[in-house]
Amino acid sequence: MRPETAQGMFTMFPALYRHFREQLPFGAIQVGKGYRNEISPRQGMIRLREFNMAEMEYFIDPESQEIHDFSSWKSTQMALIDGDGSLHNHSLSDAVDAHLIRHQTVGFFMGKTYDFLVDLGVDPNKIRFRQHALDEMAHYASDCWDVELLGSYGWIECVGIAHRGCYDLEAHEKASGRTLRARREFSEPKIIEIDGWTIDGGVAGPAFRGDAGQVKVLVEALDSDVEFPTEVTLNDGRTLTVESEHVKRVQKTVKETGEWYIPHVVEPAFGIDRILWHVLDHAYDESEKGGEPYRMLKLSSLVAPVDVVILPLFEKDGMGRIASDLHKRCCLIPNLVSMYDASGSIGKRYARADEIGVPICITVDHQSLEDNTVTMRTRDDGSQIRISIDDLPFL
Ligand code: GLY
Repeated sequence: MRPETAQGMFTMFPALYRHFREQLPFGAIQVGKGYRNEISPRQGMIRLREFNMAEMEYFIDPESQEIHDFSSWKSTQMALIDGDGSLHNHSLSDAVDAHLIRHQTVGFFMGKTYDFLVDLGVDPNKIRFRQHALDEMAHYASDCWDVELLGSYGWIECVGIAHRGCYDLEAHEKASGRTLRARREFSEPKIIEIDGWTIDGGVAGPAFRGDAGQVKVLVEALDSDVEFPTEVTLNDGRTLTVESEHVKRVQKTVKETGEWYIPHVVEPAFGIDRILWHVLDHAYDESEKGGEPYRMLKLSSLVAPVDVVILPLFEKDGMGRIASDLHKRCCLIPNLVSMYDASGSIGKRYARADEIGVPICITVDHQSLEDNTVTMRTRDDGSQIRISIDDLPFL
């Protein structure tokens, strides 16, 4: 069982590279199950052995000077805890300039992640970034920031943004013998003197058979003054002896217009269940009305499962017909979920809608029969406005 979704995106790098017309940077995203050997799963959706994750592998040329735009976070002071545990309140661009965040692409995805979480309804005051200490960092990472959210279980890691360098592509290259590289063109062609060795295919092919490709790469990496026979070690640890009849001397001058390199990767990795749990935790609001507890889910309209509820004050006198026509009209709008509710007092129906987080309630009343207007009530501030049906913002 995979601990992360990431690896498939590394092994299929050549297909991604072709898909993106061999131009970096580009990103691939995968959503799926991840698995961890949790000794004691607990805290509901927080500590699971099987969980939902979403990861992006963003492939970059380490020599590129790509500049990210941090202007939209210029006046947002982020809570940043460095690897030694000290808290800094900085804008992301200041943190990058001060080298607190070691790579600007990591900082850029910290900003994107912050926006994503706030859009989902996470409380910005309950978001902080925590840098891994050097001895805490995963074997593949050169900088890593967790995004922690504050909820009823305290601060919980929900997202990790890691600079993985070339660790993964290099490891897969070594283990598979496949090339996982991108090409960068030189601004000016370079003249390169080659003095070394390559294999003599007619002799080395039959001698090394399936290993001939790897032997060729190893022989071409040998110094020009090596003496044969010599031993080379394959990726799987086997050692082969290369004799002088297996090789040919190569001495030439070539003009190179570019070179192949192993891209670096920045990876934002999201724990979906933990994020969802915090979205609910931050949206949950309990107050009192008439001596009874009054529960509300202040869900962002981006994630509320029901967008609008249509309430006829009464179903008689044509109000029910106007309301159900409006409901049917809403149901035809892609991605809009409408509910029709005609049972109980209007106060009870508002309360039911608030409890499941419906952002907007529309009430059809007597006046609607006269002038085709309805009342639009907004959940979070309870405000009500009179509006013509044709002017409803979601129609
Ligand atoms: N790929 C990051 C993680 O598995 O946590």
